[in-house]
Amino acid sequence: MRDKIDLIKKELANISVSTAQELESFRLTYISRKGVISNLFDEFKTISSDQKKEFGGTINQLKQDVQTKFKSFSNELSSKESNETHYSDVTLPDNINKGSVHPLTQVKNRIIQIFERQGFNVSDGPEIEDDWHNFTALNFPENHPARDMQDTYFLKKNPDILLRTHTSNVQTRLMEHGTPPFRSIMPGRVYRNEAISARAHCFFNQIEGLYVDKGVSFKDLKQTIYHFATAFFGEGTQIRFRPSYFPFTEPSAEIDISCFICGGDGCKICKNSGWVEIGGSGMVDPNVLENCGIDAKEYSGFAFGMGVERMTMLKYQIDDIRLFSENDVRFLNQF
Ligand code: PHE
Repeated sequence: MRDKIDLIKKELANISVSTAQELESFRLTYISRKGVISNLFDEFKTISSDQKKEFGGTINQLKQDVQTKFKSFSNELSSKESNETHYSDVTLPDNINKGSVHPLTQVKNRIIQIFERQGFNVSDGPEIEDDWHNFTALNFPENHPARDMQDTYFLKKNPDILLRTHTSNVQTRLMEHGTPPFRSIMPGRVYRNEAISARAHCFFNQIEGLYVDKGVSFKDLKQTIYHFATAFFGEGTQIRFRPSYFPFTEPSAEIDISCFICGGDGCKICKNSGWVEIGGSGMVDPNVLENCGIDAKEYSGFAFGMGVERMTMLKYQIDDIRLFSENDVRFLNQF
């Protein structure tokens, strides 16, 4: 019995397992019901009680050793296997990049958030539009040169259908289908037939704002824009309204903010003027209200529009608008 036990111990000390088959044959040889340990216990039953005393402990220990060995072999093997599957496809990136929210979306969301806090909700409208909603209802008379301000993509087969040139079409739709008060912002993509360059693109994003109620005046517009400018560009930002012309607003004004880079001293971003333009605005022309079935004697309103690309370029000092649609991860990763 002693010789047998010593022999088994020796074998065990030298054994190693490197495949699943070897592990299974280890189990069959030592642990199974017909295995070495089981045989040893059968034999143990037949020996004298003196011998039982002598070998009982050793055999039990041996059984435990075999089981521990089996466990550690099987652990070793499974960790080796999982490593092997991990590295078996060498084309798999070991550090998967999750991507990020596009800078235009981030800025759009921030702008929406600021206006929502002032009681504006968000409205949406179609990018493929008819002449009425994009132009005529907005007080662009037919053949009026103001239509040339916005180089329009018309549908060849039906020039009444076009790609909207501004988000002001959503104003028209909102007012046509509802009753005041309206207090809404309207983000969306717009299209203009412009040569693509670092400063201009044939598609870009605008955010339109509209507030129509009884007694709305220019000072409401100023306060709303002032609040927005300080929230978006920082405390201390000043605003300035420059007289301008849009067919759908009267009076109309371009909105400038004091340059947030140089604080008004003059730099490259503001072209040394101390001011940067962020959009257009004005009081909704009474004709537009009437075109949409709203009594202009009872109601008044203001509207404004700004470019999301422009705001993003200003905020992050990006000097080429084409970067937004090129999907270069080296650019996008920075946001
Ligand atoms: N729709 C104008 C544009 O695209 C911007 C604007 C909106 C101006 C609302 C005034 C009021 O240029």
